[in-house]
Amino acid sequence: MPGGEGRERAGMGDVYDPEFVKGVFDRCSERYIAFSLICSFGFTERWRRQCVAAMPAPSTAGAHGYDLMAGTGEVWPHLLKRFGDIGSITAVDISPGMHRRAMERLHAHRAHRIRFIEDDVLASDLPAESADFVISTFGLKTFNSDQHARLAALIARVLKPGGVFSMIEASDPKGWWLRPLYLFHLKIVLPLIERIFLRGAQDFAMLGVYSTSFGSAAEVAAMLRDQGLEVEFSRYVFGCATGVAGRKRPVAS
Ligand SMILES: C[S@@+](CC[C@H](N)C(=O)[O-])C[C@H]1O[C@@H](n2cnc3c(N)ncnc32)[C@H](O)[C@@H]1O
Repeated sequence: MPGGEGRERAGMGDVYDPEFVKGVFDRCSERYIAFSLICSFGFTERWRRQCVAAMPAPSTAGAHGYDLMAGTGEVWPHLLKRFGDIGSITAVDISPGMHRRAMERLHAHRAHRIRFIEDDVLASDLPAESADFVISTFGLKTFNSDQHARLAALIARVLKPGGVFSMIEASDPKGWWLRPLYLFHLKIVLPLIERIFLRGAQDFAMLGVYSTSFGSAAEVAAMLRDQGLEVEFSRYVFGCATGVAGRKRPVAS
């Protein structure tokens, strides 16, 4: 199970406990957008776009779906640009801080198509077969294996037959010759920037810990397949991000 390093690093209980994760993101929320854009050199935006590009087109116009671990809603512009006829996106997130931030910047012209649910997806009672699509960007790393299995079951349950999904996460580019530099950036440079510019806070540093403990989305791909979904696994920039996309089989006629 991933996460040993995370637990040691935090020294404050289980870093995969949803309450702990919620606290991290509540404290990060004010600066999350700028920090993630600048410290990833813009790659997070590119990866969100690629996550949307990897998602098969929903089979109906006016599709309804979920953005799980939606945060500040950074993927919505990409989603609504590629699929202009989407009917609505229901954003699900556990952090009231991230939620509030999303509301504040809720791009007025999109507001009528966005709904919010402040909830823990791991304890979610989202209705079965209620979604034409599920998307999630950078929401996988704060879960351990057991929680990934629950997420895979949730996605399989909420998708309508023929429904589509795509998820992406920052990953550990094992085998890449520049990996040591990448890890140095995540584990040394980012925490240092945070300590200097955010007055000693160490919440963004946790994102580096989660990312390196996560590994890749390959395990999540296998779990989604176990749930009967059709899944494509993709690597981006030598595995610095990995993604899964696919669909729930339509009902045989
Ligand atoms: C790294 S942020 C990603 C936000 C956004 N999707 C993006 O592309 O930037 C991860 C988000 O997952 C949310 N999250 C973590 N665990 C969660 C859970 N159990 N249920 C719902 N949301 C959760 C956090 O509050 C946070 O907003």
